[in-house]
Formats: sequence, structure tokens, C-alpha cells
Amino acid sequence: MFDQLIRKYPHEPQSYLGKAQTLDHFAELKQSNHLLMEAIEFYKKYLQFKLNDDNQQLEYRSAGERCVERLRFLGQYQQALPIHQLLIENFPQESAIRNQLVVTLLMSNRLLDAKLELQEILKRWPHDGLALVNYGFILKQLDQDYHNASIYLRQGIDTKEPGTQDGRYYFQLGESLQRLNKQTQAVEVFREGAELKLFPSVYQRSLYNERNLKAQPFWSIEETTYEKFLKKLKDNWMAIKAEGQNILSKEGYFTDEAENLKNKGDWKQFELYARGQQRKDNCLKAPITCSLIQQFPAARDCRRGQVKFSVMHPGTHVWPHCGPTNCRLRAHLGLVVPEGTRLRVAEEERTWQEGEFLIFDDSFEHEVWHEGKSLRLVLIIDIWHPQLTEQQRRTLSPI
Ligand code: OGA
Ligand code: MN
Repeated sequence: MFDQLIRKYPHEPQSYLGKAQTLDHFAELKQSNHLLMEAIEFYKKYLQFKLNDDNQQLEYRSAGERCVERLRFLGQYQQALPIHQLLIENFPQESAIRNQLVVTLLMSNRLLDAKLELQEILKRWPHDGLALVNYGFILKQLDQDYHNASIYLRQGIDTKEPGTQDGRYYFQLGESLQRLNKQTQAVEVFREGAELKLFPSVYQRSLYNERNLKAQPFWSIEETTYEKFLKKLKDNWMAIKAEGQNILSKEGYFTDEAENLKNKGDWKQFELYARGQQRKDNCLKAPITCSLIQQFPAARDCRRGQVKFSVMHPGTHVWPHCGPTNCRLRAHLGLVVPEGTRLRVAEEERTWQEGEFLIFDDSFEHEVWHEGKSLRLVLIIDIWHPQLTEQQRRTLSPI
């Protein structure tokens, strides 16, 4: 019927909207991206019409917002930008509409563009909570300007406006303070976040969590329930070490840790598995290690983690940080371990030993120092938390 209406009255916006919403609904029912893309085309056609009736404002706005949301869902951030522009033109007085553009830019990792947009927003709305927290977030991630990041994040959080009470902002504010050596203030922020249940506890600050999983900083091999597989890896540690060292001896295979976690020094990684997928190219360079992982389902299929060699040079300090999820445990197999290296998880420090596992839950705050004289090499193996059900292991979103 909407098709007929469109044919008969091609200059009437309403039938395009009707068709878009119908297709959108069908797409949901059939879980079809193809139908969804068709729906989006009709949303776009509808949105091209000029708003002339005040009564239609709300409808136009929700259609635009829905269209943006669906494009984000498909990962089509570029296509969402002109929709944002239309919304901004039609609702120039709304900071919320501009903040939505910022979210899309952040999702597509365009931090500099997001920063420029936020500067415009903050010129007009200097007290807008969401703009303040996002600006602080960007100052930390893009510029490592921890001082100003902490000021903006604090101001934004204190507005208590919708969207500002998000674990990410508390997390980033606390980390900024830690990097400014303001540990007491940082702990205060983490306590606030934990009290609001934005993350599990002051030390455990992962944002993607499943309920009721045992949570402790360090784990013994027996506690993991994966003894059999871990022992097999341990028995082969010399072969694993040889593969790691061989890769290390060639230029350019290991890549710099890219998450801005390093305070000083040199820390590189070589990835074999990520998000439950084998990196086939890299596994060709470490066939024994990968064949051992292939036989270890909780590591091989761990879509919320990685398997990687990690090399750290003397003089390195890694800032206190937390992993993203409580769904994995992180097993380090010591391969080359000089004196003077240590790892703190929550309130306890330990060190590696060659041929031995050190297993911890990296959703707890951890920090690493290398004050020794030669490089340290470990194999990092993420494994599903033993209390996750088969169903959870199959369905949890990858990280
Ligand atoms: C980690 C981590 C540092 C290292 O495994 O989460 O921070 O020592 N490791 O490689
Ligand atoms: Mn870590």
C-alpha cells in the first residue's frame, strides 16, 4: 500500500516514512540486513523533504535518529554523517542532536573530528554534560592531556545529565588522575563508579561483564579447571620460546602496544589469535604454538581475548590499567625472564618464571615494571572464565 501511495503522491513525505518503518520492522523480524538497507534508503528519502509543519518535527527527528542508529548498527558511519547534518540543520537549537554526531565520530574512531565538533558545541553550550565528558575523554585518548581531561570529565560527570553516568567516563577520569599521580583522588572516583555499579569494584573495572563470575586477582592452574591443556603448553615451553625468539629476531614482526598504556619504555606484541580467530599469517611463523592452542578450546575459541607473544624491554613501565571484560582469565607463560620484572594485580605483586604460568584476571587493575637488564618474553593466552556456560561462550559478543 505504501508503494501505491508513493506512486500516486510522490511528493508526499509520509508514505516514504511508512515504507521505511515497515521495512525496518520486517528487517527486525527476519533479522535481515538487506531489508534494513532498503529501509534506510526510504528513511533517507523521507528525510530529504523540508519540514514545514511544526507537528511533524517530532516524527522527523525520531526518523532521523532511528536512521542514524540503524546505520551505526551496520557499521556504516560514513553514511550516517549526512543524516546528522540534516538533523542539525533542522534542529539548530539542540545540543543533543550535535552530540549524536560526536558519538558517530567516536564510534568510527575519528577522534580529531569529534574534538573539533565538540569545541563548537562547547562554545555554544559550555555546560553541556555530554559534551564535557566526551571532550575530556578525547583530551585523554588523543592528546594524553590528563590534566585538562580530568577537569572536563569531572565537570561533565558532576552535571549528572543523562548519558554522563557511564562507566567509561568514571574509568577514564580515574585513569587520568592516576597518570597525574593523584592516586587518592583516583580511588575516590573508582569508588563512586563502583557504588553506582558502573563496574564491579574499585579494582575490577571492566565494562563488559557477565554476572556471578568468581572474581579474584590471581588464579592457580588448578582453579582454572584447564590443568590438562595448560600442562601441555608448559611441557612445550622450550619450543614455544624458540618460536617467539625466532620471530623476535626478524625486523618488524612485533608491533607496538597501541592502546596508550605505556608510560615509558618499549613493549611490543605479536598476535596469534584475536577474538577467537586465528591470525593465519602469523601462525605460519609459530606453528607449534598455534597447534597447541588449536587443541585448547577455551583459548582457541575465546572471542573475548587474544593469544600473543609479549616482549618488554628494560626501563618499561606500564600504567595501571584494566582489561575490558570479566569473561576471561589471562595466562602468561614465562619464556625469557630476567631479574627485575614484576606485575602488580590489585594489591599483590608477583613475577614470572621461565617455563611457568602466571595466571591473573586482567579485569582487575594491573601494572608492570621492567627494571632489569635484558628483554622479557612471555606468551599471553586468554581463556574463557571457567564458570561461563557453553551457551555464553557461543553467544557473547567478541572483544
Ligand atoms: C596484560 C599486560 C603486560 C605484559 O597481559 O594484560 O598488561 O607484561 N601485560 O606483557
Ligand atoms: Mn594488561
